Amino acid sequence: MKKRVTKAIFPVAGLGTRFLPATKAIPKEIMMLVDRPLIQYAIDEARAAGIKEFIFVTSRGKSALEDYFDEAPQLEATLRRDGKQELLEVLKSTNMDSGAIAYLRQHQALGLGHAVWCARRLIADEPFAVILPDDVIAADKPCLQQMVEAYAETGGNMVATMEVPYDQVSSYGVLDVERTLGAVIKARGMVEKPAAGEAPSNLAVIGRYILTPKVLRNLDRREAGAGGEIQLTDAIAEEIARSDNVYGYRFQGHRYDCGSKSGFLRATLAFGLARPELRADLEAFIDELYAARKVAQ
Ligand code: UTP
Repeated sequence: MKKRVTKAIFPVAGLGTRFLPATKAIPKEIMMLVDRPLIQYAIDEARAAGIKEFIFVTSRGKSALEDYFDEAPQLEATLRRDGKQELLEVLKSTNMDSGAIAYLRQHQALGLGHAVWCARRLIADEPFAVILPDDVIAADKPCLQQMVEAYAETGGNMVATMEVPYDQVSSYGVLDVERTLGAVIKARGMVEKPAAGEAPSNLAVIGRYILTPKVLRNLDRREAGAGGEIQLTDAIAEEIARSDNVYGYRFQGHRYDCGSKSGFLRATLAFGLARPELRADLEAFIDELYAARKVAQ
């Protein structure tokens, strides 16, 4: 029987250079869409998929992240005193059960594969999920939950995937497709950041994974790959050769690349428009901007 996936790693130790100077002081994962930080979207998605243990791989300067999940007695007392029950409920979603959350440090940003490898002792011998909080996925059924359901059939290793324009494939890990079985794609290979014209497909790997502990053992050698970084993609690709059990999962939903400025702004707009209390105001503002542009042209 396949083991249930109850542990998730959140690699949040990257330098976030695309958001400098902001990320000099603010971890990227604390930056917010409307009023919730990216990390909250990731945690909610993990909870919906049945994750019980949350492992953060952090780095220097990320203490705001730990504070975010801490209790805030003074704030809570003030809200209680003022009868702000709704806000107290909002705060509840940020509380984590004692012992459910662990923080590890990646001392050097050696790459995503290395960040995941840092959590190897906490994973031990169980399948686990990896969630990259800067990939925010808006979906009726949360993406990781879709994957957990598909994984119940396939087992093995599974990566979220979506089609991207061919001129963007070299920014992603890319799947070489053996065959397609509905939303599930059996992989024949996987390559990180292929050169333009050398990509085996335009199916990009997006930041959700369900992996076997063998992938962690593949990372023991700590070999650098594309861009001089220790790549998670390479360690997963090794499992194709060894066990032939790597699958892509074409999820339902819209992915926002909140690791890039344009993706982050798009997500801010989309999540703002999705809020009933903000929608009319934002729409009116967009119309105004559009009209002003037309006049300027
Ligand atoms: P990115 O490639 O987006 O890198 O990492 P980054 O450092 O966060 O951002 P830029 O490119 O400098 O702007 C993808 C994910 O992998 C994590 C990041 O925190 C992010 O969630 N990561 C990356 C690590 O945890 N450690 C690393 O060494 C590299």
